[in-house]
Amino acid sequence: MSFFITVEGPEGSGKTTQVRELAARLRSSSHHVIATHEPGGTPLGEQIRELLLHAPWPLCPETEALLVTAARAEHVTHVIRPALEHGHIVICDRYIDSTLAYQGAGRGLDLDQLWALQRFAFDGLLPDLTILIDVPVEVGLARRYQDAEQLSRFDQETLAFHERVRAWYLRAAHAEPARWRVFDGTLPPEIVAEQIWATVQTFLHKREQMGARGRI
Ligand code: TYD
Repeated sequence: MSFFITVEGPEGSGKTTQVRELAARLRSSSHHVIATHEPGGTPLGEQIRELLLHAPWPLCPETEALLVTAARAEHVTHVIRPALEHGHIVICDRYIDSTLAYQGAGRGLDLDQLWALQRFAFDGLLPDLTILIDVPVEVGLARRYQDAEQLSRFDQETLAFHERVRAWYLRAAHAEPARWRVFDGTLPPEIVAEQIWATVQTFLHKREQMGARGRI
């Protein structure tokens, strides 16, 4: 049974740990799972990721939006859509909502244009469930700055930038409650993992009752 889960959050929210944990739990319940991330997930996507995170020169917001969307077009075409068509569960660490949060709310690009770009690139394949791991900006950035060698261009943005990103996520989750579930990323990771697991089981159960996915 195919199912598409995305995991979103501000910097330092603990997404990566939660994606790993969720994938492990699903696999031990006999599901076939593809755990992947953006930007990245394909050879070209990984090269774009390196540019986006560590380019030594300034990138304008439009270029950022085009690069993340180009990486996504490759990812959807070569990884996500084929996996869903094979009936697998896909868990993706960041997806379309990251573009709306970072390049839209963060950088100030027009949200309608960003949506149009997503439709142009890959017909805007939407997740069945989006998990938001929310942390206050100071908490997330403090975690991030513990490993100062790994800091990306985004980590080094202003507090105001990160506040806009977080506020966009919370608004989006509030506006579309059927798709989003919000978790408190300041709780111990094992507790967050339990909460996410309970939510995913509920969604999968509902999907089983509804029958096969009709969207792709
Ligand atoms: P990620 O590897 O998830 O960083 P982390 O988990 O360490 O926060 O994502 C890399 C960065 O890319 C992150 O700072 C957000 C940014 N990003 C965008 O700005 N737009 C996008 O569409 C995506 C997918 C990521």
